[in-house]
Amino acid sequence: MEERINRFVYDVPTKIYFGEGQIEQLAGIIGEYGSRVLLVYGGGSIKRSGIYDKVMELLRNEQIDVWELSGVEPNPRLATVCRGVEICREHGIEVVLPIGGGSTIDCAKGVAAGFYHQGSPWDLVEDSSLIQQALPIVAVLTLAATGSEMDGDAVISNPDTCDKMEMNSKLLYPRASILDPAYTYSVPSYQTACGTADIMSHVMEIYLAGKGGNEVQDRFMEGLLSTCVKYGPIACREPENYEARANLMWASSWAINGFISCGVNSCWPLHAMEHQLSAYYDVTHGHGLAVLIPVWMEYVLNDETVERFALYGTKVFGIPDTKDSYEIAGLAIQKTREVFLEMGLSLTMKDLGIATDEFYEDMAIKAADGLEDGVVPLTKEDVIRIYRKAETSS
Ligand code: NZQ
Ligand code: ZN
Repeated sequence: MEERINRFVYDVPTKIYFGEGQIEQLAGIIGEYGSRVLLVYGGGSIKRSGIYDKVMELLRNEQIDVWELSGVEPNPRLATVCRGVEICREHGIEVVLPIGGGSTIDCAKGVAAGFYHQGSPWDLVEDSSLIQQALPIVAVLTLAATGSEMDGDAVISNPDTCDKMEMNSKLLYPRASILDPAYTYSVPSYQTACGTADIMSHVMEIYLAGKGGNEVQDRFMEGLLSTCVKYGPIACREPENYEARANLMWASSWAINGFISCGVNSCWPLHAMEHQLSAYYDVTHGHGLAVLIPVWMEYVLNDETVERFALYGTKVFGIPDTKDSYEIAGLAIQKTREVFLEMGLSLTMKDLGIATDEFYEDMAIKAADGLEDGVVPLTKEDVIRIYRKAETSS
């Protein structure tokens, strides 16, 4: 049965500066919010690529003062967020400027909100309603993946408790994001593949939960998925292919900026299960998703979901719709696997560095919390079965 589009308010406050050379706008954008900046970055890719030097020159020329929070980890940690909050308080920071991938931008969001909170920033992860104020964020994206450049989410890891959870607030949308596809030329093939899998998963979480009746977003999502299937492998093979990088970058933002999910209910089962892999084993988010996606698809394929999966197969992979729906769905799952493999992602738990099941029980308890409302409800036992199937699936 088709679903009605539920009520929604669509309001994305992030201004996007897209294309080569847009970095020249940076000082002007920052100047709208202040002149004391916290530059947030990761392990040094922005220094190797030259973005760091360019940004420092641009900001210096406009008398903008810069303090730095460097070394943000992939799967950013609470301790790093806390370090950033301290720097902001000590130096009266007015604007937070993350330059990097999702981890760097998420960490910056944690800092921006943590600045105004008297307790631990982890309180904000546990209860986002506590976020009443945040420093303005201006982001420069260097990796097409998470969509953090145009959403209000920040996923933070707490290694002490093996928790990886998100805070979410309207106040955490970057005020502006600079998206220069050439900045992603230096992204290694592995991270490009993981990023593409992540973008695809963001769309699948919504698309495969849908039941029709929402043509605008359905056709748009098929376009996003086709874009990833086409350009992900190209970007892995040809890192400096502007067309591929640009399409992936723009797809990254639109996959999770709130548009495709307008009026759709989804409990995001893939992310719920993957975040536990990252929390317990520190795996790369997109790789964890690539391992889980085909296994989960097979697990939830039933009479309720088969038509949706078949639609995915015909629209995204061009499988003729004259075949039986289950056959189309099966082929679609196989083709999804092949895209990941073509990009060089191997698809078992072992390939993620997970060689033991000792934490499955704990992980599944956390993951299954909220999955009873999915299009196919999943229990703790279901999640454990999916993890087990992912041990051998390839
Ligand atoms: O740290 P540096 O040196 O910058 O290197 C990074 C890092 O090692 C490197 N990299 C980034 N841009 C590069 C580059 N290397 C060369 N050239 C460049 N231009 O790539 C590595 C991974 O970076 P990271 O930021 O961790 O990747 P990603 O963008 O995939 O972010 C992953 C994090 O975002 C969260 C994930 O859970 C994970 O913690 N997510 C955030 C979401 C959100 N805010 O909405 C939604 C997502 O579903 C996701 O959960
Ligand atoms: Zn994701």
